[in-house]
Amino acid sequence: MADITRALVPWDELREAAPDLRAGVYDGVAAPPADLSGVEMYVLPYAKEHGPELIAGMPKLRVLQTLNAGYEELLPLLPDGVTLCNGRGLHDASTAEHALALILAAQREFPKWVAEQREHRWTREHTGSLADSRVLIVGYGSIGAALDVRLAACEADVVRVARRPRPDEGVHGVDELPALLPEADVVVLIVPGGPDSAGMIGARELALLRDGALVVNVGRGPVLDTAAITAETASGRLRAALDVMDPEPLPADHPLWDAPGVLITPHVGGGSATFYPRAKRFVAAQLQRFTAGRALRNVVVGG
Ligand SMILES: NC(=O)c1ccc[n+]([C@@H]2O[C@H](COP(=O)([O-])OP(=O)(O)OC[C@H]3O[C@@H](n4cnc5c(N)ncnc54)[C@H](OP(=O)(O)O)[C@@H]3O)[C@@H](O)[C@H]2O)c1
Repeated sequence: MADITRALVPWDELREAAPDLRAGVYDGVAAPPADLSGVEMYVLPYAKEHGPELIAGMPKLRVLQTLNAGYEELLPLLPDGVTLCNGRGLHDASTAEHALALILAAQREFPKWVAEQREHRWTREHTGSLADSRVLIVGYGSIGAALDVRLAACEADVVRVARRPRPDEGVHGVDELPALLPEADVVVLIVPGGPDSAGMIGARELALLRDGALVVNVGRGPVLDTAAITAETASGRLRAALDVMDPEPLPADHPLWDAPGVLITPHVGGGSATFYPRAKRFVAAQLQRFTAGRALRNVVVGG
């Protein structure tokens, strides 16, 4: 009985955080412990292909902790009565920084300068800017607020949109989008995935944008209709900077790779160096709360 593993965590140093749980380690790469029958709390490996398939072998599971902010893909795998906690907040700095980097790179045409550097060419030309641009943040939650702070420092004019309006915070409701899209220079999508948001920005919404507007997606790929943004960028009417895609990975022969004014990163927004220390501190505290029977943070199902 004394040796039963009551928690499974992705990093070895977390085992010290709550010794009573006798945590085993599974990083999504090396083999997990053989006996998972006593696991009550499972912290999924981050950004690995493997992890969720172990849930089925944990009959005593009480808490599933994902380190992602998005969790819609876990819902079908969650056994009845198991609490699900997400990683809301852990990615704010990293994802907001990535969104800002994409916007600045696109506005100041860094892909062009990188190509010019490769050719050893000194061709001077002035570019657009972020300062004085109107930036529409669609999905004004935890990451959206972190991006807002960064955009304010860049002297952008920020307009905020969430599912429901929050007038006291200057946040518009999503039903106001048709009136807001035509006024935007940059639209940043930070909306969670799932059936409610799939195809939310399609051909009709993109058609409302000004010529030359920039569409940034750091939320979930299916929120933006891939065929529609491919058509609008292939014609050169709109530009795009995309960290998430539908499908992922984007097939090597997809026309979006070569469309003019398109900047692509492979879903790396949330996982930069700043994420890992924050995630480890958060999980250590969650394990201690679980051991002490205190309320867990970031509960999104059950509790
Ligand atoms: N690129 C990356 O590597 C990366 C990293 C981390 C997260 N993400 C993605 O970013 C998403 C947001 O993370 P977060 O921590 O900021 O989440 P959050 O705090 O829950 O905020 C989500 C925001 O989106 C709004 N929203 C939800 N559904 C909507 C809809 N159908 N239409 C319009 N707005 C909608 C919500 O509005 P209400 O407040 O009115 O409900 C809320 O303001 C995650 O779910 C994840 O998919 C990506």
